[in-house]
Amino acid sequence: MQEQVNTYDERRPAMYATRPRTDHATSHLVCAAVTAPSLHNSQPWLFTGRDRGLDLYADLTRRLPLADPVGREMVISCGGALFNARLSMRHLGFQPVVRPFPDPWSPAFVARVAWGPYDGPSDGEELMHHAMRQRHTWHGPFRAASLPQPLVDELRDHARAEGTELYALGLRGEERGLAELVREAERAHRADPAHVAEVNRWTRASHSGRLDGVPFDVNPWHPDCTSLAGRDFLGLTRMMPDPPEVWPARTGTVVVLTTSRDTRGDWLRAGQALQRILLYAAAHRVSAAFHTQPLEIPPLRKQIRRTITAGQYPQMILRLGFAGPGRPTPRRPVAEVLSADRTWRHVSRPLNRRTTWSPASAQPS
Ligand SMILES: Cc1cc2nc3c(=O)[nH]c(=O)nc-3n(C[C@H](O)[C@H](O)[C@H](O)COP(=O)(O)O)c2cc1C
Repeated sequence: MQEQVNTYDERRPAMYATRPRTDHATSHLVCAAVTAPSLHNSQPWLFTGRDRGLDLYADLTRRLPLADPVGREMVISCGGALFNARLSMRHLGFQPVVRPFPDPWSPAFVARVAWGPYDGPSDGEELMHHAMRQRHTWHGPFRAASLPQPLVDELRDHARAEGTELYALGLRGEERGLAELVREAERAHRADPAHVAEVNRWTRASHSGRLDGVPFDVNPWHPDCTSLAGRDFLGLTRMMPDPPEVWPARTGTVVVLTTSRDTRGDWLRAGQALQRILLYAAAHRVSAAFHTQPLEIPPLRKQIRRTITAGQYPQMILRLGFAGPGRPTPRRPVAEVLSADRTWRHVSRPLNRRTTWSPASAQPS
């Protein structure tokens, strides 16, 4: 099952099936792709339907300049959308053939996905495909039951199948160390008015009618109610600095997704691995909460790399556990992000020097 989803191979030249694209099939892929998670639900992706598949672009106008100056999380988000498109092709019975970053002159051109040979989906792939619409980010405490070790091992295998590693923090000391760094990052973000303004720009009143951003009502908990500080989307800590109750035992299993290098190809791999892990977890009724704040502050990311992940580059920090079904967040309609004939130059090209996004601006930390 894992080999079939994992058809991604950078060294393999594009191989095209003769099957023509149909609008319906392309929309099906994009419909699935947009259910992926993204930083602040920014949905930084655009698609062009092609005769033989789909092109995925990063929408540079949706990158968060303060939280994500080099576009690492933007590419991870696109990686999640790419994994969904791959899985959706598998659901339709075809092998996806993926070329990551096919045009060196266009860094926002993230991937070309082509229809490969016919090959029916496995039960495991169908299980993950089915979980796509049930997966929602969790923000609060989990039930006290911990994840069974065999499931953690399987999630690790899924991460490996995408060329990444998943560290499950077993020792209390390790988790305490990470929790301190998450708290330090969150403290810095909450104290910085520009950062608070950026979070506010992506937080929505529940009936705002906006189809992106994080709605107020998905996160009714105090952000500090577990061992890992959460993002304060509602500005709750300004009114109530301390949580009414803290449940350290309901933090869940803390995991860090890592890559051996820190190029944009690694970020794309991390995004695909992230979504593969989230879907496999969701298929087993396990939810995930995200805590990426310290990875947005280079010295803290460096410290995590040095003290927790043995030199591997940390790309995502998650809590995993059993919770309720979670609440859906909105998505922009397919018609807004899919074009049959445009290459999205107006949004996939950097606007000016200050906003330039290029792989060269990504410095390993
Ligand atoms: C790269 C990345 C970083 C994220 N960081 C956080 C985070 O630090 N805190 C958080 O609550 N959610 C985080 N999220 C989750 C998004 O808020 C969530 O995916 C988005 O609101 C859409 O909701 P959904 O995942 O339920 O569809 C992150 C997602 C991605 C892809």
